[in-house]
Amino acid sequence: MKALNIALAAAVIGAAATAAFAAPAVKNPPAAPVDSPVLAAPASKDPQIQRGFKLYTDTGCWQCHGYQGAGSGNMPRVSPPLPMAAFTHQLREPRRVMPIYTAKVMPDQDVAAIYAYLQSVPKGKTAAEIPMLQGQPGN
Ligand code: HEC
Repeated sequence: MKALNIALAAAVIGAAATAAFAAPAVKNPPAAPVDSPVLAAPASKDPQIQRGFKLYTDTGCWQCHGYQGAGSGNMPRVSPPLPMAAFTHQLREPRRVMPIYTAKVMPDQDVAAIYAYLQSVPKGKTAAEIPMLQGQPGN
């Protein structure tokens, strides 16, 4: 009888575990916005922008700043970019923990291409352009 109970208990636990794994994915918190090189690929065929996008992805800027430069967590947004001089300065002498990109590993022409790509990223809508944000307070 004891053996039967153990077998039964194992069957019940097994069924519960299967049910747990089969449960639909929890929707809260919602999935992070999609960020992929396919979606970020620039619409412009401008060779400078295309090259900048390739450098931005190949060099790994996206790993911290996102494919479209939106940033996340402690990683700042980089699109639209800072003025060119400040942008280049950040690469050559980062303020804090960002890796250094010397002119040897990233010549000025490459920085300019990445800059062109980040400038080409479409801007998000402003609050005034989002109808759901135009309701009265409390609505
Ligand atoms: C390992 C993560 C990491 C990588 C890779 C990285 N960054 Fe950064 N970046 C940061 C962090 C963190 C900061 C905040 C300042 C600092 O730490 O120097 C920053 C700041 C910046 C800023 C200044 C933004 C502002 O408004 O202050 C720019 C521009 C920038 N990064 C561009 C780039 C580019 C272009 C690349 C690729 C060549 C790159 N970063 C690669 C982490 C990263």
